[in-house]
Amino acid sequence: MSEADTADVVTAFEQGLAEAAEGYAAAFGRATDEHALRAQNARLLGPAGSLTKLLKRMSQLPADRRREFGKRANELKRAIDVAFEERLSELARAEREAELSGPMLDVSLPGFGRLPGRVHLLSRVKHELLDLFATMGFDVADGPEVELHENNFDKLGFPPDHPATDMQDTFFMKGPPGSDPRATLLRTHTSTVQVREMLRRKPPLAVVSAGHVYRRDDDATHSPMFMQLEGFMVDRGVSFAHLKGVLTHFLRRLFGDDVPVRFRPSYFPFVEPGGEVDVGCGICQRWKRPDAGACRVCKGSGWIEILGCGMIHPVVFEQVGYDPETNTGFAFGMGIDRVAMMRYGVGDVGLLYSNDARFLTQF
Ligand code: PHE
Repeated sequence: MSEADTADVVTAFEQGLAEAAEGYAAAFGRATDEHALRAQNARLLGPAGSLTKLLKRMSQLPADRRREFGKRANELKRAIDVAFEERLSELARAEREAELSGPMLDVSLPGFGRLPGRVHLLSRVKHELLDLFATMGFDVADGPEVELHENNFDKLGFPPDHPATDMQDTFFMKGPPGSDPRATLLRTHTSTVQVREMLRRKPPLAVVSAGHVYRRDDDATHSPMFMQLEGFMVDRGVSFAHLKGVLTHFLRRLFGDDVPVRFRPSYFPFVEPGGEVDVGCGICQRWKRPDAGACRVCKGSGWIEILGCGMIHPVVFEQVGYDPETNTGFAFGMGIDRVAMMRYGVGDVGLLYSNDARFLTQF
């Protein structure tokens, strides 16, 4: 390197150091946020910064000046670093102060969360009932809501002209063109599951099933869709005493040991003898308080009809291919809505179907 070149490098160092030393404090002071401050710092000390470039030329300096320039450059670098850090924390402090003295953000205001869902009261009661029978050894079965006329009526011994098959009671489903318009329907009871399970299995068997059923009536106490639970047992030597024992045990487990239970004779085509069971009305509890006033649910009688039952008719056994000479069995069907009302003290059946969260969230 010529002498003239060496003099240039020395001048460049003198000027470079002087410029850097002069400008940085003001530049940092003008930066009003962290981003701007970092940009100013990079202009000097970044990979392409002026001071960085200068230091890369260190080796071009005459050997006797290197030590001196190196020392000055390092001191300047340290001073810039210190000024940078100071300005950085100054900006952070200012930002925090602005936040504290600015408009308040109330983080305690509740947001727009979603309400957690829950099991509907009727579904819950359905599972409670199925559980009770399962602990007594009954299997749980299922059946379709769209059924054949055959399974809903014929195989259960309903005569062809039985009034229950009347348009008044049954919703029929449209089949393919030309097919019997009464062949398919919405099941009117869960007794269809008796037929299906008996066709599918051989005795001995004990089965419960629960689900929706449909009838064409709709008034204050009837809904066109409601829920039933069906149970039945078939074996050699099953008697009415077994039926009474199972149902009484079940009703006591459900409503408490003190609830009165009464069996009354009644008629269903698929049982003989047949009966209905009433329990003391859980709403007015007349058996404990004889002076209870007028009750809408039991209409003042003090009793609620809760289920139909009886010994399975030999005609049904013949229909499903069981020998009616060796097999006997009992069956019962109950309205789950009624049970839910009694068990949870619901005084109006409409509440179960109106989907009012104020009611449903109480359970
Ligand atoms: N299926 C009958 C009904 O819906 C109830 C019932 C079931 C009666 C089983 C006797 C035996 O009314």
